[in-house]
Amino acid sequence: MVNYKDLGLVNTREMFKRAVAGGYAIPAFNFNTMEQMQAIVMAAVETKSPVIMQVSKGARNYANGTILRNLAKGAVEYAKELGCEHPEIVLHLDHGDTFELCKECIDNGFSSVMIDGSHLPYEENIALAKKVVDYAHQFDVTVEAELGVLAGVEDEVSAAESHYTKPEEVIDFSTRTGCDSLAISIGTSHGAHKFTPEQCTLVNGVLVPPPLAFDILHEIEKKLPGFPIVLHGSSSVPMDEVNTINQYGGHLEAAIGIPEEQLREASKSAVCKINIDSDSRLAMTAAIRKHLAEHPGDFDPRQYLKPARENMKKMYIHKIVNVLGSDGKLAQC
Ligand code: 13P
Repeated sequence: MVNYKDLGLVNTREMFKRAVAGGYAIPAFNFNTMEQMQAIVMAAVETKSPVIMQVSKGARNYANGTILRNLAKGAVEYAKELGCEHPEIVLHLDHGDTFELCKECIDNGFSSVMIDGSHLPYEENIALAKKVVDYAHQFDVTVEAELGVLAGVEDEVSAAESHYTKPEEVIDFSTRTGCDSLAISIGTSHGAHKFTPEQCTLVNGVLVPPPLAFDILHEIEKKLPGFPIVLHGSSSVPMDEVNTINQYGGHLEAAIGIPEEQLREASKSAVCKINIDSDSRLAMTAAIRKHLAEHPGDFDPRQYLKPARENMKKMYIHKIVNVLGSDGKLAQC
């Protein structure tokens, strides 16, 4: 058994309380590689932001759970080395789909887990989430559960259609499961293709997707005042990165994300955790494609991973400062 406290990690409880009260959101960035971890830590330290480093089941399959846990431990030490005496770093399981997977992560140094039973019938979702909460809380690990279904594909999670969260269910669900935060579905979705061009309106040459269902978010906030709400599928799919990828040999068609103004608005509400994965993938791929196209003789991975890391760091800082507003929000610097 490895307890996250021994690794210098924190759970989400205090940071969410402050985020909801302060009208900002904590970034939850997915990671699979050392370069992503370094870029996340550099960005969090430079901006003095708390940060959630999250690992999906696919990331564990790719990189190995033990290695990822040690990367998170290294992240805490690295943040201190970079001059941040009291970093607030959460190691979170993204989209845990079974009790066994959540337990394994809790037993191996994760400070927070998501149990995603959103595809199950309501009562089964409650029973599964409650079982995870009962286990996790013994070790002061926080639990995110989900109500409503997001469309899109992400690692091993996929759904063809979204179903918005029903506000009338949230009190019963959060009370009976005892979860610490609730992921809701209000129109975001996983991946880099969140909307078809047909669903969008052309404004000044830019395809603008339909707005998120803020009415549902506000109804949920009224039912659960001060309760931490989570938004998955919140990449904005920056056009400059998509254009770079396409300019240097890629082929990404109709990649459309969530406009940043909408995420900025959501951050000011009870939404206190915003999940971003695809934007990091795009930033990394764009930088690697550009570097290799401009330097065809390079074959040392450090030559193209360095600009990739820089580009991700720039993107993370932009999200923290200009979209989520979590800069300068560490309890102690
Ligand atoms: P994006 O695909 O929009 O980055 O969403 C990531 C996510 O929600 C991880 O759980």
